[in-house]
Amino acid sequence: YVLGIDLGTSSVKVSVVDKMGRMAAQRSESYDLLQKQIGYSEQNPEDWVRATTKAIRNIIDLDRINATEIESLSYSGQMHGLVLLDDNYRVLRPAILWNDTRTVEQSRQILKKMGKGFLKITHNLPLEGFTLPKLLWIQDNEPEIFKKIKVFLLPKDYLRYRMTGHIATDYSDAAGTVMLDAKKNTWSREICQPFAIPLEICPPLGNSDAYAGNITKQYASISQLSTHIKVYVGAADNAAGALGAGIVREETALCSIGTSGVVLKYADKSSSSLNGKLHVFNHAIPGKYYMMGVTLSAGYSLSWLKKILDNKTTFGKFILEARHSTIGANGLLFSPYLVGERTPYDDGNVRGSFIGLDSNHKQADLVRSVMEGIVFSFKDLLNIYKVNHSEVKSIISIGGGAKSDLWLQIQADIFDIPVICLTNEQGPGLGAAMIAAVGTGWFQNFQDCGKEFVERGKIYLPEPKNVQKYCELYRIYRQIYKATADISH
Ligand code: XUL
Repeated sequence: YVLGIDLGTSSVKVSVVDKMGRMAAQRSESYDLLQKQIGYSEQNPEDWVRATTKAIRNIIDLDRINATEIESLSYSGQMHGLVLLDDNYRVLRPAILWNDTRTVEQSRQILKKMGKGFLKITHNLPLEGFTLPKLLWIQDNEPEIFKKIKVFLLPKDYLRYRMTGHIATDYSDAAGTVMLDAKKNTWSREICQPFAIPLEICPPLGNSDAYAGNITKQYASISQLSTHIKVYVGAADNAAGALGAGIVREETALCSIGTSGVVLKYADKSSSSLNGKLHVFNHAIPGKYYMMGVTLSAGYSLSWLKKILDNKTTFGKFILEARHSTIGANGLLFSPYLVGERTPYDDGNVRGSFIGLDSNHKQADLVRSVMEGIVFSFKDLLNIYKVNHSEVKSIISIGGGAKSDLWLQIQADIFDIPVICLTNEQGPGLGAAMIAAVGTGWFQNFQDCGKEFVERGKIYLPEPKNVQKYCELYRIYRQIYKATADISH
């Protein structure tokens, strides 16, 4: 077996995968999001380690997976999160996450100082969620902590450090810091120097499938894993999600509903020609790339609604309620800007809305309008590809959005393109397992591994009468951002 560890925002999922790509066992453990004030989103890195260890132990104790049969493991991790370590490799403060938008000012300052030069170096803009503005926020607001930084890591890198003692990151996660020189694939001196960020605090770089070491004796004793298990560096969750969905060649695109939502497309080369309208990051496949637009609160919008309306029910049941509403949720429109929005607005201050509330509306209408609003926000992302001559003609759907027939049909109808499911959809966790499988030599490369592990399944086709109705609603949805951007909170 190989293990794929997907360190997400709401939980960690550990998957045990065999040589055919079949899931032998899977366990998940959740942890809290710390939101001390509006715009803040942090997590305690120790919680990631504790949850991962518990999931692994359950796999061994309860699912009876024999630890000696696990050959290797790797990771997929929530991107951009800033983990700071001191000289003794101890965590200096809670990690600041990708959906934290306190860094509006730092992002502005970076652009002011570097202008277009920034885009030329990183092929991206310094958006609030990325790691560099977070580092500058620490410099501005917690200078005592900044002074003590020995090294920073991304979330999955910290978890790997605790399991192997190995300090490093991979190119797909490094790209999301926007401190990586996109042409040279090295940490950028031109970016670090003007902002007084010592290059020494940047971790060593490696490929996602580079060998990172073995499980340490200490971690073996608390997790019951064997010290024979080889560990590979791992990848950013979106790169791993792309691997796990077979996005390994030109023309394939992916839409994923996790806590965040993304529409992502494979790219052979990196370039700044999109002017930052979409992110361009390194893929987990060495030397390859992907473009991506991000909705900050996708699945998160639905979990927010569930939490305030019906916290005890399961997601599956909650989503099923939407069947009792109709297309367009009986005149209710939702915009999912609960923590601000990344693409296309890059606005940490905007907030979400329900438009058209009626005293006859029921819970079912609220659920359906949230599901539709999330997909409308993805339509905005698809439009960016279209106007940049990279139209998406069909799309693979993964994550929460792929677990409901109704939601998949809503995607096909709003996107007006075929939506493809996978038979063995496991999201970024499968990508993490694929990294371990390629690293350990089961396959020559990711393409070969994909052929064995990834299989396409049912296709949802757009229904013309629904497409037309959603087109009309989307026109109204498009106006919501402008009309509500100035509401203060
Ligand atoms: C991508 C992003 C999110 C996180 C979620 O830029 O911020 O999709 O990777 O884990």
